[in-house]
Amino acid sequence: MSAKPVPVVEAIDVKKTYMLGKVPVEALRGVNLTVQSGDFVSILGPSGSGKSTMLNLIGALDKPSSGTLLIDGVDISKQNDNQLAELRKKIGFVFQFFNLIPRLTALGNVELSMAIAEVNRTERRKRAIELLEMVGLKDRINHKPAELSGGQQQRVAIARALANRPKFLLLDEPTGNIDSRTAGEVMGLLKDLNVKNGVSIIMVTHDQHLAREAQQTLQMFDGEIVAQVVNQE
Ligand SMILES: Nc1ncnc2c1ncn2[C@@H]1O[C@H](COP(=O)(O)OP(=O)(O)OP(=O)(O)O)[C@@H](O)[C@H]1O
Ligand SMILES: [Mg+2]
Repeated sequence: MSAKPVPVVEAIDVKKTYMLGKVPVEALRGVNLTVQSGDFVSILGPSGSGKSTMLNLIGALDKPSSGTLLIDGVDISKQNDNQLAELRKKIGFVFQFFNLIPRLTALGNVELSMAIAEVNRTERRKRAIELLEMVGLKDRINHKPAELSGGQQQRVAIARALANRPKFLLLDEPTGNIDSRTAGEVMGLLKDLNVKNGVSIIMVTHDQHLAREAQQTLQMFDGEIVAQVVNQE
């Protein structure tokens, strides 16, 4: 995939202050960031450094207190709730606890997100199978989540997140709930999706080793990005 990179996320002096009663908590103190299409960015930082706050903003789940945040070129501060919901359809979310529907098979889980987006039945079956093949689960499509390993469940969640061709994948501690070997496999899949399929990825983790597998790592500390490191191959 060699399409010309375009910015998918642009943050300019983004601040986020939560009010805890009357006490302001400065969770983000002026973040500047550009993520281009085709990038694979990991966000690393200690507990409380603002990673989830940052992710919520990039996912259009919340708005900055000040500064400018463009998601796919759209200034999220100027959007109402409905417009934010539209914007979120362009983003593929993957969480720590897979969030799969227990009574649906792998295929059913991937199809469901397309049903919500009103893709017709034939098309969504075809694409769900393609996606499950892409994440290496061709022979597990009829398994329910409880019949899959942790790593396999996370692969289903990744296939589901890709179903509606999002502008980027946003992952919050995607390997926080699986053992380290399986985590390595999921990371390998993400790298493949990035390199071979051109999927743009933003991943929060507090695992240094996994973070270094991404093209670049943003190091957060106390509400700021204190370093931006391009990782060696
Ligand atoms: N809703 C909230 N109200 C008040 N303060 C909050 C709220 N959410 C987060 N904070 C504070 O903002 C700071 C950043 O929190 P955040 O959840 O972004 O950290 P994090 O880097 O994701 O940490 P962790 O690795 O533990 O998940 C913390 O000091 C936290 O206590
Ligand atoms: Mg967090």
